[in-house]
Amino acid sequence: MATLLEQISQIGVVPVIKLDNPTRDAAALAKALCAGGVPVAEVTFRAAGAAEAIRLMKDACPEMIVGAGTVLTTEQVDAACEAGAQFIVTPGYDPELVAYCQQKQIIILPGCTTPTDYHAAYKAGLSVLKFFPAEQSGGMDKIKAMSAPFPMFKVMPTGGISLKNLESYVKNPIIAACGGSYMVTADLINGQKWDEITDLCRKSVEIVRQARQG
Ligand code: 3PG
Repeated sequence: MATLLEQISQIGVVPVIKLDNPTRDAAALAKALCAGGVPVAEVTFRAAGAAEAIRLMKDACPEMIVGAGTVLTTEQVDAACEAGAQFIVTPGYDPELVAYCQQKQIIILPGCTTPTDYHAAYKAGLSVLKFFPAEQSGGMDKIKAMSAPFPMFKVMPTGGISLKNLESYVKNPIIAACGGSYMVTADLINGQKWDEITDLCRKSVEIVRQARQG
């Protein structure tokens, strides 16, 4: 049985979600993602109902891997875990939050872009990092440069990723998966455009498949 991080890596893309109306949209969104071959989500705590959204998505699609994003406090870690979150993503590297998640035995993907961040993650014994904000921090070139002194890490770049540049990331074995909101934009979710979301997921999965074959 693959570990959770391996399963996320096999899927190859992680939708980064902000849900303003979880009661209305969470279940339908979870089904749309799964139908598109992307049974994973990072539900951000940028929206007040994030924990509720996590709970509703897991209820609708129990096989789906649901994590919490934009986690800034230990209280949010607790709320995410209680709601059923299977991984935690933080925008930056916070040693206190990393230790807290490790103590709770929940996977944490801290946002890292600098040698200092990577070194701290190395000391904490982590293996997969969020590289955020990816495009704005130097994209794949920077990820490759960071991999020279830190070849032990796989990364999940997020920030500025779309169908246009997904391939350029996922073809590199340093990349565990790419995060992005392009398949779950506010317009798509608020417009309840579930078929479009499923279609964008299918296209993403196909890009990942082809990039990894080639
Ligand atoms: C995140 O929090 O991971 C990013 O805001 C997602 O970035 P994107 O909207 O550019 O995909």
